[in-house]
Amino acid sequence: MKELTLDKQTIWYDEVLLLEEPSRCFAPEFWQQEDKVVGSAQGRGTTWFVQAEKLDAALRHYHRGGLFGKLVKDQYIFTGWKNTRSYQEFQLLNLLIEAGVNVPRPIAARAVKRTFCYQADLLSEKIPNARDLVSILQEHSLSAEMYKKIGEQIKKMHEAQVNHTDLNIHNILIDENSTVWIIDFDKCYQQPGNGWKQGNLDRLKRSFIKEVNKCQIKWDESEWSYVVNTAFNSN
Ligand SMILES: Nc1ncnc2c1ncn2[C@@H]1O[C@H](COP(=O)(O)OP(=O)(O)O)[C@@H](O)[C@H]1O
Ligand SMILES: [Mg+2]
Repeated sequence: MKELTLDKQTIWYDEVLLLEEPSRCFAPEFWQQEDKVVGSAQGRGTTWFVQAEKLDAALRHYHRGGLFGKLVKDQYIFTGWKNTRSYQEFQLLNLLIEAGVNVPRPIAARAVKRTFCYQADLLSEKIPNARDLVSILQEHSLSAEMYKKIGEQIKKMHEAQVNHTDLNIHNILIDENSTVWIIDFDKCYQQPGNGWKQGNLDRLKRSFIKEVNKCQIKWDESEWSYVVNTAFNSN
């Protein structure tokens, strides 16, 4: 990882994956001018899918969720460059890749200092030909085998002691080879012990239940055991 210190901003990037000018790659306008925006997705903010020289990438500006987020949309208290959301997620993704978890490769992260606060962006690999679980389950149900694969990824993530504080079915993708990916590690962190792991699974289960009503996904409570048993299976 390379680090670039500019006036009021720090950029961290992987020089093998990023061939563009690091200081320009966080502006959606840059990619628009180059005619390299290939799509977008709506979450808390907009994630732009762009065609970088080396690989397709997902560009996200960090946004707050919830009520507070309506007032202060994208500013966070600055307590040091290495504590910024973007740097933390960049590092966590690399740690997870080393642990063998299927997560996007981080390409570049940036934090921009404002008076007491900062804003942040992350450019990561776009998982090719993947869809999130919500959109897949709106079309068809998943096999027991697929649910077990989801459980396996959660198990590996937990073996790396990573607490995914927003594990929901929008943040799980499946690609054309039936590989399961976990995304969106904003605010996630490494934590010792095991007591917190059940909480990740509880949140994921609530997400299935919620989307049955909201998005008419094809999911039945009886399928949940495949995920949870695999995630907590000890062999
Ligand atoms: N690396 C990626 N590859 C493919 N799709 C992605 C990727 N990152 C995000 N997406 C899509 O964009 C949506 C929003 O991105 P996400 O990182 O979850 O941000 P947030 O939930 O904070 O808005 C995801 O639900 C997913 O559909
Ligand atoms: Mg998300």
